[in-house]
This record gives sequence, structure tokens and C-alpha cells, in this order.
Amino acid sequence: MASNKLLLFPGDGIGPEIMEEVKKVISWLSENGEDTFEYEEGLVGGSAYDVHGCAISEEDMVKAQAADAVIFGAVGGPKWDDVPYDVRPEAGLLRLRKDLGLFANLRPAICYPALADASSLKKDIIEGLDILIVRELTGGVYFGEPKEIIELGNGQKRGIDTQVYDSYEIERIAGVAFDLARTRGNKVCSMEKRNVMKSGVLWNEVVTSTHKADYADVELEHMLADAGGMQLVRWPKQFDVIVTDNLFGDMLSDVAAMLTGSLGMLPSASLGATDETTGKRKALYEPVHGSAPDIAGAGAANPIAMIASFAMALRYSFQKIAEADMLEKAISNALDKGLRTKDIAQQGEATITTAQMGDAIVAELNALA
Ligand code: NAI
Ligand code: MG
Repeated sequence: MASNKLLLFPGDGIGPEIMEEVKKVISWLSENGEDTFEYEEGLVGGSAYDVHGCAISEEDMVKAQAADAVIFGAVGGPKWDDVPYDVRPEAGLLRLRKDLGLFANLRPAICYPALADASSLKKDIIEGLDILIVRELTGGVYFGEPKEIIELGNGQKRGIDTQVYDSYEIERIAGVAFDLARTRGNKVCSMEKRNVMKSGVLWNEVVTSTHKADYADVELEHMLADAGGMQLVRWPKQFDVIVTDNLFGDMLSDVAAMLTGSLGMLPSASLGATDETTGKRKALYEPVHGSAPDIAGAGAANPIAMIASFAMALRYSFQKIAEADMLEKAISNALDKGLRTKDIAQQGEATITTAQMGDAIVAELNALA
């Protein structure tokens, strides 16, 4: 019986409320599964600033490095709008991503049958949808140098961002996408803009050579990122895994996610490289949404994005595929019973609270076990 170590960062706003519901699932798994999960809690974001004067303490960074997986709620809120830039709540999340080397961001877009009517697209276009966007997270235009605004001396200014990708960065994100495709529909679509960007030409070349060298069994397709955006809305079920750079991934994953409904439903994983000796990888799991200060403390938050993020931890950090499938099924079954927090309810009329949704999902786990 293995014991798995989790570090939980509830964060701010609704973060602590939705984390309480994940704890119920963790306890259930420890009591009913083969392995146990131990967890410690850390402070991040505004709640860390209030105690330590920074968005994450060195002590908690050490704990994050040592954990098998980090489970992250959300940070930020109006209370900290005026704190200095370097210690603003988001700085805690960025520090974690950077120091843990989390270069692969995974955002699934899954349509739960009970919510197929809630999409802005027609039901037959999204019913049964299950795609995964793999976004490169630590390179590209968000980090490339030079990055500045310069005075041109003629009263004009120039804003500069630089898209930079080295072949090793493309190769490792492509490897993650191909590995994941093998566990799903065995199909990868790589998106860039090689028609106008040199980094896109390189992206296309390296994905192609990585495919040829190590993943020839996986189906590979290339698409220009703008056409990819169109296809995502036209017929998303043509895709299995999409791999793309940081900037295109930011936009395309938001588009893909919204095909299926509310922000309160969307999980994500951010993965680092696998350590060759231990076989382990650093990873952080978090809902896509923020700290929702407008509903914090009201028991109105949907905990599903947070709980589904933990299902991704079971899948990608602990190789507990059966448990991950079961947890996702439990979520789906709770929705099938018509249980709705306000964000996913018709006419916004909630049938249950945050805690009741967590309890309902645990009850479905019991029914499935
Ligand atoms: P938000 O995602 O917190 O909220 C947007 C809207 O969706 C709000 O109306 C909120 O009530 C609703 N919502 C979000 N999650 C929900 C859930 N689980 N259940 C029900 N409804 C939900 O984004 P917003 O309002 O732009 O940002 C609020 C704060 O969160 C800001 O301080 C922002 O900086 C921070 N933020 C933090 C992120 C993170 O920690 N990764 C990501 C995005 C924003
Ligand atoms: Mg975004």
C-alpha cells in the first residue's frame, strides 16, 4: 500500500470552499482505495500575503517541491488589488509554475451528457465531446526577449514581444502530447502558424521529426492555428489531442473549454518533466476559474472543476486510471440526477450548495464502489 503526498493550496475567495469538497474525495479514496493519500496545506496568494507579506513562503515552496502533486484552488480578490506588483496574489502561482518547471498545461474539454443542452453550440456538435488541449506553458511570446516598450524619439513608442522556441522545448511538449494520445484516441493535431512565423516553421519541423522518430504509431495532423480555431467551433469532435504553443494554446483552450459550458466545470493540469530515476514528475492541478470573489463565502461555488482537477491528478500523477474514471463517472452521475449549483442551473436557480455537491459526488462514489 503506497502513501501519496499531496500539498493543498486552498488560496483565496472560493478556493478554500471548493478545497473542502476535494478533501472529502481524498478521504473517501484513502478509506476505500488501495493506497492512502496524505495531505498538508500551504498558504498562497492573498492569504499568504496577509501572513508572510509575500505570495508564497520559501517554506511552502520547499513543501511543494517535495509533494507528489500540488492541488491548487484559486488566488486573488479586491482585498489585494493594491499590494505591490511583485507580491500580488498571482505571483504565487507563477512562482510555483516556474520553480516546478511545469511546461505542459493540459485542459480537457469534456461534455457531460446532462449538460449537453447548456452549450452555446448545437447539442449534436458537442454531445460526447472529449478532447484534450496540450499548451506549452513556459516558453514562447510570454517570456521571449526582448520584451519592452521603447521610445522612438519622434513622439512614437514601440511595444515589442518576441516569440522564441528552441527545438528542445517543442520536442518535449510534442512528446507529452503523443504520450497522452496513446492513452486516448491515438491522434494528435499540432497547431502553429508556419505561414507567417519562423517559430511556426520550426514547430512544425520538430513535431514532425519527433513523430517520425518515436511516435509513428500515433496519427498526426498539422493545422494552422487560425483554421484550428474555426474547426474547434465547426466540428470539435474531429480532434483528440491538440498540441500548440503558449499564446495559441491560451486562446484555443479557452475556446475549447467554453464549448462545454460553465467555468465552474473546467479542470486543468500543469506537468513538468518525468525524473528518469524516480519516474515521478512535478505537477500542479487547478480549476481554470479564479477566486470568484462575487460569490465567495456564499456556499454557491461549483466544486466540480476542483474535484475534476483532482481526478486529473489521479490519472497523471498517480496512474490511478480506474479511480480517475470512477470519480469522473461520479461527477457525471450527480449531474444526471439534476443536481446543480447556480452556475450550471437553468435560469440560475441552484438546487444545491457547494458542500451538498461535494457530498453528492462522494455518495455517487459509494454507489459505484
Ligand atoms: P473568476 O473565474 O474568479 O470568476 C468569473 C465569474 O465566474 C464570476 O462571476 C464567478 O462567480 C464565476 N465562477 C468562477 N468560478 C466559479 C465556480 N467554481 N462556481 C460558480 N461560479 C464560478 O474570474 P474573475 O472574476 O475575472 O477574477 C476574480 C479573481 O480571481 C481576480 O482576483 C483574478 O485575478 C483571480 N483569478 C485567479 C486565477 C487563478 O487563481 N488561477 C485565474 C483567474 C482569475
Ligand atoms: Mg486564458
